[in-house]
Amino acid sequence: MALLDYYQQQLDQLKQTGNLRQFTVNQQQGAYIEIAGRKMLNLSSNDYLGLAAHSQLREEFQDQHPISRCYFSSSSSRLLTGNFEEYEQFEDSLSQAFLGRAALLFNSGYHMNIGILPALSDSKTLILADKLVHASMIDGIRLSTAKYVRYRHNDLQHLTQLIEKYHDDPQIERMIVVTESIFSMDGDETDLTALVRIKQRFDKVMLYVDEAHAIGVRGEDGLGCADQYKVIADIDLLVGTFGKACASIGGYLICDPIIRRYLINTMRPLIFSTALPPINIAWSDFIFKKVMAAKTERLHLHKISQDLQKAIVAKGYHSPSTSHIVPIIVGASQTAVEKSQSVQQHGFYAMPVRPPTVPRHSARLRISLTSLIQFDDLQRLVACL
Ligand SMILES: Cc1ncc(COP(=O)(O)O)c(C=O)c1O
Repeated sequence: MALLDYYQQQLDQLKQTGNLRQFTVNQQQGAYIEIAGRKMLNLSSNDYLGLAAHSQLREEFQDQHPISRCYFSSSSSRLLTGNFEEYEQFEDSLSQAFLGRAALLFNSGYHMNIGILPALSDSKTLILADKLVHASMIDGIRLSTAKYVRYRHNDLQHLTQLIEKYHDDPQIERMIVVTESIFSMDGDETDLTALVRIKQRFDKVMLYVDEAHAIGVRGEDGLGCADQYKVIADIDLLVGTFGKACASIGGYLICDPIIRRYLINTMRPLIFSTALPPINIAWSDFIFKKVMAAKTERLHLHKISQDLQKAIVAKGYHSPSTSHIVPIIVGASQTAVEKSQSVQQHGFYAMPVRPPTVPRHSARLRISLTSLIQFDDLQRLVACL
């Protein structure tokens, strides 16, 4: 019992500081979510284009892929017997969309980030990561044998100084710069054009850009910020997930074919884990084409995002957002929890985000918008903040 007492005390402490996390059961209906009998506008969804909520799409998919013919398990890693043709087809679709570059699929964005970075680095590798990159990249760096330095958030001058400092070090053979394009907690963006220009000055540098929150949302064809800024061909390791705007599951890498072949031989989460079920891959392929065509949804999302950013700042709150992820930073964890409870009472489901997910004293109410939301709804939200 004494062993469990320790864990209970830790939980009690988390509760006292407003940092206790727990699951909540919910039912989702389009733009709305119902929790404990209360129906609220869902402002915590990653279904940015509303495609996961779109029942007709599911019916269309079912017509094309009769359930009785689909496999619901791949039963092994792709290197054994798990490499169903759905995998090859979807990677071909991705490759065509991303200017003919090679594509490789992973079971999730988390798998992708904890797998690629350790596989591509050794003790002569230096990883330079933005201070605010997602936990999955931090975990990937921790699992690697690379040297590791973080640069100040979105401070490309600081990054350049660090590259210059280590570039002539004979102990360092390659550097991997790791960033997100749209940051998951602040909703701000990396200047990808400037980042690419920096990389091009240094021959030891490779870029690793995670587009988890930008795929589907940005660019003429929804291929992310790299599409928007026309730098798809310039990012060595362009990654993203299908679990958000793409209404599915899994991660992807767009890269040189040499890197793809190398990872198939070295990346542990790819080699030692059962591949996603073929039905999921077929759905990802189906929905990815819808994502590319979803221009109206992208435009609407962009418009309501800009309107909300302005309204939040006009109300006197600090928010660094330039995207559909709009945090309202309040400081103390308890304040974020109270704000969340208060907006929920007014019919808006926005979650508090607290340390350690975000830096200390920057707890926030995190709003993530979807194209199913109208600005009138957001005006009502701002009024009750
Ligand atoms: C930037 C970023 N990368 C990767 C992931 C993990 O992706 P997945 O949910 O597909 O595991 C997330 C998840 O929130 C994320 O925000």
